[in-house]
Amino acid sequence: MKNPFRPTFGASPYYWAGRRVILDEFARAIDGYPGDPTRSLIIDGARGIGKTVLLTELEDIAAQQGWIVLRATGRHDMIRTLVESTIPMKIRELAPPPGRKVTGVSITGLGSVDTELTPGVDPTPTLSSRLRDLLGLLSGAGVLITVDEVQDADPDNLSHLAVAYQDLIRDNLEVSLAMAGLTHGVNRLLDLPGTTFLRRARRFELGPLTDDDARATLLATAEGSGRPFDNAGVDAAVHLAQGYPYLVQLVGYLAWSSSGGTITAEDVSVVRQDAVLTMGSQVHAPSLKGVPPAQIAYLRAVADLIGDEESVSSSAVAEAVGKRPNEATDTRGKLLDRGLIESPSWGQVSFTLPYLAEFLRSNRRVTRVN
Ligand SMILES: Nc1ncnc2c1ncn2[C@@H]1O[C@H](COP(=O)(O)OP(=O)(O)O)[C@@H](O)[C@H]1O
Ligand SMILES: [Mg+2]
Repeated sequence: MKNPFRPTFGASPYYWAGRRVILDEFARAIDGYPGDPTRSLIIDGARGIGKTVLLTELEDIAAQQGWIVLRATGRHDMIRTLVESTIPMKIRELAPPPGRKVTGVSITGLGSVDTELTPGVDPTPTLSSRLRDLLGLLSGAGVLITVDEVQDADPDNLSHLAVAYQDLIRDNLEVSLAMAGLTHGVNRLLDLPGTTFLRRARRFELGPLTDDDARATLLATAEGSGRPFDNAGVDAAVHLAQGYPYLVQLVGYLAWSSSGGTITAEDVSVVRQDAVLTMGSQVHAPSLKGVPPAQIAYLRAVADLIGDEESVSSSAVAEAVGKRPNEATDTRGKLLDRGLIESPSWGQVSFTLPYLAEFLRSNRRVTRVN
């Protein structure tokens, strides 16, 4: 029997949990009319919270309704890739090869596909014209564009996409756009001129799964793999994972590997350190990359003060970093914007990522040796 857990970024889980509101609203929107506000989505949240696999679920929902899915990523030259390869490939899939006559398909529409064959006749294709060509081949269905890692997108590319998309919406065409990225980067991009239209998209910030959802995933994934959880085992795993989707998969994976048949609380406690260390290298370290020293100092102060509590008072943190209150407020605001801390109640701060306090405390020891 193979380990059924998938602690891999971008890998869809064997058993899906939660996020029902987004999935249901999106399904309804796809089924609805052009211009439905929920056809334009921005999903943001921390690393490992489940943005990429959620985009994949949205793609599946659209595909089930017969929609065409165009997948893009902010890490590459997305407009060029869409215009020059992704969309032409879809058009070729849908349109019959030239020469064969099929009723119901406009041959003029195909002309622009092979612009290289008729130089000087067709204008240079744009994202908008390409999408119109593709939409022209569909009836009763539309086109969903998904953009992952949108925090890394080039601002010009993103505003280009925004303009083309808005153009199609204005003509009541069946299009949908779902974007996902890290909270901080998404905020930064949406503040730029040129992306105004995207600011009107429905925004969903992903938080942790509920304990019930985490439990359901753990139980359902392990079941049928030959190594089910016992009651205390699943309780311990839910507790350790703290609803954080990547940890749910990781804890499940490690506990499954270390168990000898049924996954017990003992199996889970044995893998705790491994899980927290892996979380450190896969999530904490990359999340702290590029965070300026003043903000790191603030985070370290929170880590020192928080102990085993849920949160700590921001005035205590301000005092610990030796800053005047308004300076500390500024740093705190930036960290809130990065999604690294939260304010669970007035005047309190807590970490968003589980085990970040442990990471910062152990990391400090390492730093001091240097
Ligand atoms: N709703 C969910 N149910 C079960 N597992 C999930 C869910 N969302 C995410 N995961 C798991 O969490 C991990 C991280 O998901 P991913 O989409 O790559 O995160 P992100 O893109 O936000 O960094 C993957 O192993 C994925 O299978
Ligand atoms: Mg991702």
